[in-house]
Amino acid sequence: MKLTIKNIGILAGIDESGRDRIAGADMARLEVVENAYLTAEEGLIASYGRMEELPEGRADEEIDARGGVVLPAFCDSHTHIVYAGSREGEFVDKINGLSYEEIARRGGGILNSADRLHTATEQELYDEAMPRLHQMMESGTGAAEIKSGYGLSTQDELKMLRVIRRMAEASPMTIRATFLGAHAVARDYIGRQAEYVDLICREMIPAVAAEGLADFVDVFCDRGFFTPEETAHMLECGAKYGMRPKIHANELAASGGIQVGVAHGALSVDHLEFTGEEEIAALLGSQTMPTILPGAAFFLGMNYPPARRMIDAGLGVAIASDFNPGSSPSGNMKFIVSLACIKLRMNPQEAFNAATLNGAYAMGLQASHGSITKGKRANLWITQPVSSLEFIPYAYGTSLTAGLILGGKRVL
Ligand code: NIG
Ligand code: FE
Repeated sequence: MKLTIKNIGILAGIDESGRDRIAGADMARLEVVENAYLTAEEGLIASYGRMEELPEGRADEEIDARGGVVLPAFCDSHTHIVYAGSREGEFVDKINGLSYEEIARRGGGILNSADRLHTATEQELYDEAMPRLHQMMESGTGAAEIKSGYGLSTQDELKMLRVIRRMAEASPMTIRATFLGAHAVARDYIGRQAEYVDLICREMIPAVAAEGLADFVDVFCDRGFFTPEETAHMLECGAKYGMRPKIHANELAASGGIQVGVAHGALSVDHLEFTGEEEIAALLGSQTMPTILPGAAFFLGMNYPPARRMIDAGLGVAIASDFNPGSSPSGNMKFIVSLACIKLRMNPQEAFNAATLNGAYAMGLQASHGSITKGKRANLWITQPVSSLEFIPYAYGTSLTAGLILGGKRVL
């Protein structure tokens, strides 16, 4: 199967350097070819160049990009899209003055979603979650990580992870699964947090591993949730079963989560609203990708992480949607790119790098996803004709999607 895309206005995100992620000043550079073509064979990027160099010969499928931009499809490295129902009641509570933490303390928040998930069947969860994947594709996403964490019991966590496995089998997107039993203390264990941590280590992690259901292990290490000591213990349990950490840290306070994550070789530490010089120092030189979720700070009306300071200090950052029912009910990565520009003061090139190669790194997919590289999977987002690359985040409310190619096949 051979695919040719011609008349690409700007082919952006080209990288033949073999690097696994992009950091510091390099984040502002995005290699482009204007007036370009691209070909894919057997699902992989085969060649690209200027239109006048387009090789002769027929393709099985030919797409005319009509001057649109082609970018690597977004790599959304942090989502919670398997959930039952929605939480717009809490949305209104927040408008009326309650904070995310107050709602959680009243038994709302994550526990509210856990109650609803408990009564939903696997099929119902699958039927609710698949359209969310479709919405994500409509904004240009081609790979995503999906977390459990609304089960909070062995049976319900397994139920969620089995749904994620079915979604991965059915979707043309590339999916990675994360076990997040430590999202909150389950209702039955309130006041017995140590016993819940023990349940995760003794029962949940081995059961998840026995079915091979998770690539990564996550903990919500923050004020009012899990401590750095508990987090360290659970990450060590996960590591025994080959699950690398990707953790929630420093959303609500300088929780020590970033340092614990780095010390345990986390692939990413995510949220980071409370990040100072000590945390930046811990991240520099590490293998851990700081991942910013600007949709959550936007939706909850909270502080944004100091992305500018992090990049200027030499770090690479990823951005992701955090698509979930409580703090970011949207998986629109194009809007996340706009938020990164508008609220984090990242320039468009930095935001695209954060949403593509650095997002791929944060899922362990950097060898096959996240850039226009010969031999990488042909996951490509095609936009409507636009005047420039910068127009994409500037037009923050406009879809602009003209096509999506996943594995060399047109899916939109
Ligand atoms: O990433 N911060 C913790 N977990 C999710 C929110 C989950 C929820 O409120 O349902 C997040 O923001
Ligand atoms: Fe999250």
